[in-house]
Amino acid sequence: MSDEATITFADADHAAEPRFVAVPRGSSILDGAFQAQVEIGATCGARGRCRSCRVKVLKGELPPPTVQDMVQLGGEALQERFRLACQTRVIGDCTVVPMPPRSESGHQILGSARAGAGARNDHENRVCKTLGV
Ligand code: FES
Repeated sequence: MSDEATITFADADHAAEPRFVAVPRGSSILDGAFQAQVEIGATCGARGRCRSCRVKVLKGELPPPTVQDMVQLGGEALQERFRLACQTRVIGDCTVVPMPPRSESGHQILGSARAGAGARNDHENRVCKTLGV
């Protein structure tokens, strides 16, 4: 097995040709996007605290979701194979579609831990309670 995996970045509208990049296994999808010069937002600086880097994984094996994936995206989106590009480590060849920006409540949890806890929405509170964090 090669130490590298290929990420294919597809365009949701099929307006642009897909871009390909080979990255070491264990790299984040966001790292691959930067290498491939694919524009993906990273509002929180790749800390898993916003959802500007959302991607939909069309093909390929995925590692288990991180706590940040669960908090920011929720179970339904994870089942539909949405992931945070900054948190998802590539374990094999995959094809992803960067999602367009949408309004984010993630900005509310960028502050201090104390302010962030107060800014969680109901979904985030349920996830954190379930995970005991
Ligand atoms: S850059 Fe903010 S969650 Fe990925």
